[in-house]
Amino acid sequence: MSLTSFNASAREPRRKVTTLSILEKKQRHERLTCLTAYDYASARLVDECGIDMILVGDSLSQVVLGQDNTMAVTVEEMLHHTRAVRRAVQSALVIADMPYGSYQVNDDQGVANGIRFVKESGAEAVKLEGGEKRIGLVHRLLDAEVPVMGHIGLTPQSLHTMGGYKVQGKSLPAVEQLMRDAVALDRAGVFSIVLEGIPREVAAMITAEVKAPTIGIGAGPECDGQVLVFHDILNLTFSPPAKFVRQYADAAALVRGAVSAFKTDVETGAYPSEAESYHLPKETQGALAEITERKRAMKR
Ligand code: KIV
Repeated sequence: MSLTSFNASAREPRRKVTTLSILEKKQRHERLTCLTAYDYASARLVDECGIDMILVGDSLSQVVLGQDNTMAVTVEEMLHHTRAVRRAVQSALVIADMPYGSYQVNDDQGVANGIRFVKESGAEAVKLEGGEKRIGLVHRLLDAEVPVMGHIGLTPQSLHTMGGYKVQGKSLPAVEQLMRDAVALDRAGVFSIVLEGIPREVAAMITAEVKAPTIGIGAGPECDGQVLVFHDILNLTFSPPAKFVRQYADAAALVRGAVSAFKTDVETGAYPSEAESYHLPKETQGALAEITERKRAMKR
């Protein structure tokens, strides 16, 4: 831990990403980037790399809190982590995932919780799962000035009704339903739509049909942008990666190496060194030596 102010180091100012600039990027046929982050350090690094959107995903439940699925994470936990991310971010658009149970009971509850994310954590948008059945809520959130990112296809909060994490939209009726969901979200005014775990061909059709940028995860390369989980791209999830995950670094190996080296250095006395130690100023050293000498003399 540095003894200087925690977040004091200067950063190059960059333009703030907004929901409007996200829409404009699709119009210019520029691809969009999105990664999850859940704390100050990861969010700061992601933001410094110029990623367009940071999603404080409910995947937090699994990759940070070690729970079996995304459904266990609470509004309070999501708010806590979104606040940390918001403190770190200068440029990226910060989106908070509305956790399971925070909008399913009724739209009043969904609007109240959406407002909490903006007011109490500094989120600039919220994401929620579901298509046609969420349109009433999307309208109410937009009326309350809360921008919304949709999420259709493999929606992890529907784990039990889907019967597992399965690729969606494989049959003709399922493709038609996905298209209806995407068009309904688009017409309602979402600023982007996550397409998760669906065939590439279906994602391409939806992307061509809607004005809102589509952000794919396991939905092929024709989406307007891509999102991945921070821990997945760094090999920090301790489980076999899904087919669509590309690991860009092995942070687990890096951390194991560093922690083992620290352990060895402490156990052998190699850490801390002289250069890593603080010293008394000369005057205090002299005074201390005198006191020690006096004490010794009294004992004799
Ligand atoms: O929670 C999450 O990380 C997500 C993304 C995978 C889209 O919802």
